[in-house]
Amino acid sequence: QAALTTSRFGRELTVLSKTDSTQTEAEKKAHEGAIEGTLVVAEEQTSGRGRQGRPWHSPPGLGVWMSAVLRPEGPLTAVPQLTLLTAVAVCRAIRVVSGVEAGIKWPNDLLADGRKLCGILLEAVVEDGRVRHCIMGIGIDANLSESDYPEELRSKVTSLRRESGVEVDRSALIAAVMNEFEMLYGLYNERGFEPIRLLWESLSVTLGREIVVRDLKGERRGIAHGLGEQGELMMRTEQGEIIPVYSGDIELYPG
Ligand code: BTN
Repeated sequence: QAALTTSRFGRELTVLSKTDSTQTEAEKKAHEGAIEGTLVVAEEQTSGRGRQGRPWHSPPGLGVWMSAVLRPEGPLTAVPQLTLLTAVAVCRAIRVVSGVEAGIKWPNDLLADGRKLCGILLEAVVEDGRVRHCIMGIGIDANLSESDYPEELRSKVTSLRRESGVEVDRSALIAAVMNEFEMLYGLYNERGFEPIRLLWESLSVTLGREIVVRDLKGERRGIAHGLGEQGELMMRTEQGEIIPVYSGDIELYPG
């Protein structure tokens, strides 16, 4: 199975049996000067967190709950691009290790059969308008069964084990994510966002679909058209206008 072949990512590794959130642990390490690529993995999180203040269900021994320290050179506007890059890396790693053909829902959820199996959270610490460091959090539902989820989540989520029928080797998955991430991050630092944008588009399950966007401006409907240069979603409205969506959540219509 996949071995770690990186030079930096995942080389500095802390494995915890239980923690509140690996985001908090990695953030502490970054604050103390940890090098880029430092990784914190936990068997269980007692208050795992997701995007937009949502909780992230992280039962013991079944998932990949991990956070890595990033020290990007670029401006604050690069952060959304890094979340998209992370989604591409995890999507590729999942395909290699489990064979599950996961797809990306904008901006960075991974779905199989329309159900979520991975979430990504990038938190940037900003000082004087510059990124001091970022914490890249990845939660993959590797070996969870339906009964491992709270009732209200069951219809919306799935796991690699449920999709592939076999138990996933979590260490191999972690190594594969680190390998893919380091390779793509190198590409990004050398050639910019364009190659990542194209890879993201090819793995997307969002493009061409009818969507609803909910954000501060309310609710808007349209067709997901493509990814813009900064990582924003370009949406074609009912009036035929193409407008950018920078943040918020989208809902995909069936079909
Ligand atoms: C989302 O889809 O809302 C993002 C979920 C991110 C979950 C991961 S699990 C490891 C890391 N630690 C956390 O508390 N959250 C992230």
